[in-house]
Amino acid sequence: MRRTLSALGVAGALLATVAVAQTVPAAAQDGDERDRTEARNRLTIIAHRGASGYRPEHTLAAYRLAIQMGADFIEPDLVSTRDGVLVVRHENEISGTTDVAAHPEFAGRRTTKTIDGTALTGWFTEDFTLAELKTLRAKERLPEVRPTNTVYDGQFEIPTFQEVLDLARGESRRLGRTIGVYPETKHPTYFQSIGLPLEEPLVRVLRRNDLTSRKDPVFVQSFETANLRKLSRLTDVRLVQLLDATGQPYDFTVSGDSRTYQDLVRPENLKWISTYADGIGANKNLLVPRDAAGKLLAPTEVVRDAHRAGLIVHAWTFRAENQFLPLDFRAGTDPNARGDITAEYLLFYGLGLDGVFSDFPDAAVAARAGLARS
Ligand code: G3P
Ligand code: CA
Repeated sequence: MRRTLSALGVAGALLATVAVAQTVPAAAQDGDERDRTEARNRLTIIAHRGASGYRPEHTLAAYRLAIQMGADFIEPDLVSTRDGVLVVRHENEISGTTDVAAHPEFAGRRTTKTIDGTALTGWFTEDFTLAELKTLRAKERLPEVRPTNTVYDGQFEIPTFQEVLDLARGESRRLGRTIGVYPETKHPTYFQSIGLPLEEPLVRVLRRNDLTSRKDPVFVQSFETANLRKLSRLTDVRLVQLLDATGQPYDFTVSGDSRTYQDLVRPENLKWISTYADGIGANKNLLVPRDAAGKLLAPTEVVRDAHRAGLIVHAWTFRAENQFLPLDFRAGTDPNARGDITAEYLLFYGLGLDGVFSDFPDAAVAARAGLARS
């Protein structure tokens, strides 16, 4: 049975709190200090696909570096192999992040499939055994944006979910701090439709690793809702409903539910989400929208409403390069140059949210430490 977290929200934005602290009585300042401490302790830094700003994503090297940089959680996206093993990739079509196209022995596996309503041509994990996938090597997804990462192309294997759990456990012991794991089921309706459902293998692997309770350092996330509702009956680990800024969950498309992600952030739907999940993982534009030019608009009430529904709020995805930042925090005109990601972190931390997914966990940790000193 699913339980919801008690709302842990800190009232108001931290930045505003900091601004008024010098002019209010000492007793109130104590309260402000408590708020800041509480907010700081609650902020969870999730390494998005590892430290993927610095290494090819979803590799043990990317996860290892993220842990070294101080991330609290590492994030593997999960898809299935032909033999039912959960492996770590953002898509089941792997030509963008592996050297599969350079393997003549797999040339015949190139094909076109419709995944969540979109026709895709390439190579798909479900057509490979784990042993076959292990002969491939990862490559940088964004070589134009992150050219220095391409020196690692061809070096790292596709990890299994179990290998990521082993890394987190080993590093937790070595460092004396808990490294959590934040798996995401990718395309669950599709994998169910081809007889390779993700949920049972996921729960089996978690159980085998003694990860069964809400106290364990695990969050399971999904953009779909039906598989999270199913998971809420299969496991007590914490669940997070991902919410994008546009579109709708693919299982809604299939079932004919007309609700969009924008609908799901309304208070009544957040309450519904709290019946099967512990939190939301929100596209950051749902929290602070941008205008057509990319300039920040006023924050929405989503963090407050989610906390009122008993849901924690994690936001994605924080990336340092100008092209991913709001206009307000870009530096210069090169879209691939780094802008002021610290300012973006501080803005979002100030909303009282509970965690961030970042390609640059080092900067997220540093900004959190800065908050501690403010
Ligand atoms: O899972 C949070 C965030 O990672 C969602 O986006 O597309 O990077 O999996 P994506
Ligand atoms: Ca993800």
